[in-house]
Amino acid sequence: MSGIFLTLRRAGIRCTRRQNPSSSRLFTVLAVESSADDTGAAVVTSSGNILSNIVVKQHQIHEDFGGIHPYKAVQAHQRNLPGAVRKALTDAGLTVTDVDGIAFTRGPGMPGCLGAGATAALTLAAALNKPVVGVHHMQAHALTALLTSAESPPEFPFLTLLVSGGHTLLLLASSLTQFRILATTPDESIGRVFDKVSRMLALPWSSLGPGAALEDFCRSSSEPSGDCDSSRHVVPVLPRTMPGAMAFSFSGLHSAVERFVTAHGGAQALDITTKRELAREFQRAAVGQLEEKVGLALHWCQMRGIDVRHIVVSGGVASNAYLRDRCALRLSAQEASPHIPISLVFPPPSLCTDNAVMIAWASMHRFLARDFDNYSTTILPKWSIEELSG
Ligand code: KG4
Ligand code: ZN
Repeated sequence: MSGIFLTLRRAGIRCTRRQNPSSSRLFTVLAVESSADDTGAAVVTSSGNILSNIVVKQHQIHEDFGGIHPYKAVQAHQRNLPGAVRKALTDAGLTVTDVDGIAFTRGPGMPGCLGAGATAALTLAAALNKPVVGVHHMQAHALTALLTSAESPPEFPFLTLLVSGGHTLLLLASSLTQFRILATTPDESIGRVFDKVSRMLALPWSSLGPGAALEDFCRSSSEPSGDCDSSRHVVPVLPRTMPGAMAFSFSGLHSAVERFVTAHGGAQALDITTKRELAREFQRAAVGQLEEKVGLALHWCQMRGIDVRHIVVSGGVASNAYLRDRCALRLSAQEASPHIPISLVFPPPSLCTDNAVMIAWASMHRFLARDFDNYSTTILPKWSIEELSG
């Protein structure tokens, strides 16, 4: 029995085969994801086989607006969804009638964007008389690790750090549907602040998007000659935010970078070395905050006798190689838990950023339990992950 089945079994889900006795296929889900600015469509089987994964990015559309333009995003989803679904089926070698169930992102997310994917999925499912499941976007980010680490999946209870454009969440996951929020942010999400700092430094997004462009800029070391000396080490050490508190806050970092850029005459007036130092200092401070809160959360679990062995890190910002490589995150986990080894689990970068594979996978336990939604199910742009168990 594969790790995937073991995980679903441990969670009390029976992994049934398709009802049709002439078929030996496992349950196959076609999913769409459209909660923000990526249009996704994918086909995944209940054995965890990713048959296709299509993501159509919209970065070029939004770069001129400096952030996601809601109306342009909806229009792009409407344009891209039909082709993405068609390509997902073609790549999977299936026709739509071969699919057993259809999943979509129900929330949280941008209302118009969610609506585009939900309408497509619900209409398709109703017309084909297929079951449909609406998925919680952050639950999907959290459960991706059960798919991508199938041989040794993280065991419940585990901690999960979800870092995206819409959220910064540190959760205790006790089952596929039970999540307790240990820390969140009352102001801006880490992803949004990466985006804003990237824009403040006037970095070109290229095809990467703003957060990945900032990471890329930090990594690059090819300085044009002659502009390095005067500005070295002028960048201040950015402050630690709310040390000791089980809460995130990134607006202070955002303002500190803004103040520095403004005081030096704007991004265009900064030489490349200063800009890079500032970008690196921001990235260091933002990731440092994540590390500190993970350490606090581990300690919180230990004080309550909650035996956590895995930390799952996912969401768009978890595709950042600096965050993934920074051994301090591992060390802070180890310091907080010197006797019990804690494993850090990162899905591959392409499955940390938004995709429909994670939506298909997070819907699977509900399809297998025959816990379907109605064709008239509505989207939930605001939807706490804690409500899933209620
Ligand atoms: O999970 P995601 O793809 O979409 C949401 O659910 O919001 O996360 C998108 C966020 C954006 O803010 C994006 O700039 C950020 O993740 N991001 C990154 C990187 N790749 C994407 N931030 C830092 N470094 C990256 N490499
Ligand atoms: Zn996301």
